[in-house]
Amino acid sequence: MSDMQNIQWFPGHMTRTKRKIKEALQIIDAVVEIVDARIPISSRNPDLKEIIKDKPLLILLNKCDMADPTETSRWIDYYKKNDITAIPVDCKTGKGINNFKDKIKEVLADKLEQFKAKGLVGKPLRVMVVGIPNVGKSSFINRIAGGNRAKAENRPGVTRGNQWITVDKQLELLDTPGVLWPKFDDQAVGERLAFTGAVKDKVVDIELLSIRLLEILTQSYRDKLIERYGNLDFSADSYELLCQIGKKRGMVIRGGETDTERASAMLLEEYRNCKIGRITLERICDNA
Ligand code: G4P
Repeated sequence: MSDMQNIQWFPGHMTRTKRKIKEALQIIDAVVEIVDARIPISSRNPDLKEIIKDKPLLILLNKCDMADPTETSRWIDYYKKNDITAIPVDCKTGKGINNFKDKIKEVLADKLEQFKAKGLVGKPLRVMVVGIPNVGKSSFINRIAGGNRAKAENRPGVTRGNQWITVDKQLELLDTPGVLWPKFDDQAVGERLAFTGAVKDKVVDIELLSIRLLEILTQSYRDKLIERYGNLDFSADSYELLCQIGKKRGMVIRGGETDTERASAMLLEEYRNCKIGRITLERICDNA
């Protein structure tokens, strides 16, 4: 797992990654963008659309095992309405991966026709895989390439050192040449990446983070909170709610007060491990 916080998002690195991706666009047929199904807005790179322009795109809503299935379906419909093909996948177990090859062919139907017309039947499709750190890019590549994983040689036209992976005779993947950044100057995005664990707790105030998480859960997943922690008084503010939850778990310090630090760590851990349920923190109406 990459630690997003240890990466320095120097403008120079970002410019170089952008340039390398643009170079690679000349020799690939499509882009596969991996997104975290729990936060489909915050887990995207803010500049990708501008970089790849009209290159055919397939979105993989990864970690769908941890996201709310109803919301994932709504996201898939939303993309469809916007002429983007998206599929839910779980790269941890491989669920949904079977659909990938058919979907990429669907996205590239015109290109395949062109290959056919030029007598290039059997020419492998070249696909670039992109995603911000921790979204599951390596897991996806390992899943799709499996035991067949073999690095292909460098291709002419792109910088040496790019990593090509031959999946089979019909498909070659190019790992992102560089590291893609999230929209890190937006506090709400940073928080959501921290909720999911993409940004490490040691650099954020976990009490504040858990209170913010409770605000979202209170709004959208009250029933799941009750199921997990029993009856709660939702007329209280989120800090008091955290205290109620901590008390229910016996996290009390001298004077009968809740040990809010422990309660926060517990809440975040339980969210990340899906103990509270399958939860999507960004819904379509949120500002997509
Ligand atoms: P990256 O290359 O984009 O940085 O991400 P990577 O594949 O390393 O995945 C980051 C973490 O997310 C890993 O967990 C990985 O197992 C997990 N992950 C990836 N895809 C899925 C998915 O579809 N569902 C679930 N539940 N988890 C997924 P880790 O804790 O860093 O490693 P490990 O505990 O799996 O060893």
